[in-house]
Amino acid sequence: MELVGASVLTHEALGAGYHRLVLAAPEVALQCRPGQFVHVRVSEDRYPLLRRPFSVARRGDGTITLLYRVVGKGTALLAGLRPGGCLDLLGPLGSGFELLPGRRAVLVAGGAGIAPLLFLAQLAWETGHPVRAVVGAAQAAELVGTADLGELGVPAAYATDDGSLGHHGPVTDLLEGSLAGEALYACGPPAMLRKVQTLAREQAVPGQLSLEASMACGVGACRGCACRAHGGYRMVCTDGPVFDLEEVVLDG
Ligand code: FES
Repeated sequence: MELVGASVLTHEALGAGYHRLVLAAPEVALQCRPGQFVHVRVSEDRYPLLRRPFSVARRGDGTITLLYRVVGKGTALLAGLRPGGCLDLLGPLGSGFELLPGRRAVLVAGGAGIAPLLFLAQLAWETGHPVRAVVGAAQAAELVGTADLGELGVPAAYATDDGSLGHHGPVTDLLEGSLAGEALYACGPPAMLRKVQTLAREQAVPGQLSLEASMACGVGACRGCACRAHGGYRMVCTDGPVFDLEEVVLDG
């Protein structure tokens, strides 16, 4: 983990508030694993003071790609960054996904949760690991990363809450049927993660999930990102953000 300066190569608005930011960051690209994140200082100004965590969504030759949605002041400032600009980031941070040998990986993504799973899809593609994806969003315009999945040859099924594309309903409906021989890798809203936990338990299949949390320090110092787990609390930034499906207790 290092503090590095990264320059902006491309920065593209994808619609529905989503942006794809490609950064030249050779040290991070070399070290990062799917599921890990970078902690980004979004502005040179004093405000906002805190860094923001972003999952690495793709890795290139000396580059990393972030896929994020504008949700507040920090991400709005980030969205204004132009190619040639520079930002400082800390990373790679946190734990990563582990592809379980002998089991087809099923990527379960909800909304912006697609970001770390695209990097996992890339790793599966690079290593020849079998993989499929189910991806959900509120509406068709908010389904991002579909071109990446196509480029990586990942069979994918889609769901939208309003029925504007794919299955009309929760993405977890697409997991009905046998999951024998598979492992689940999930990132998305808490309700989706709880359903994935339930399905995995019912069918006795393993899996991992990536949690989102507000992070002040990103390195385990402030204790502000605690999540409930069996046997106590864990820090999302250092113990996670990727956890075994059975390890965390999802409230609600
Ligand atoms: Fe400070 Fe996790 S963000 S401990």
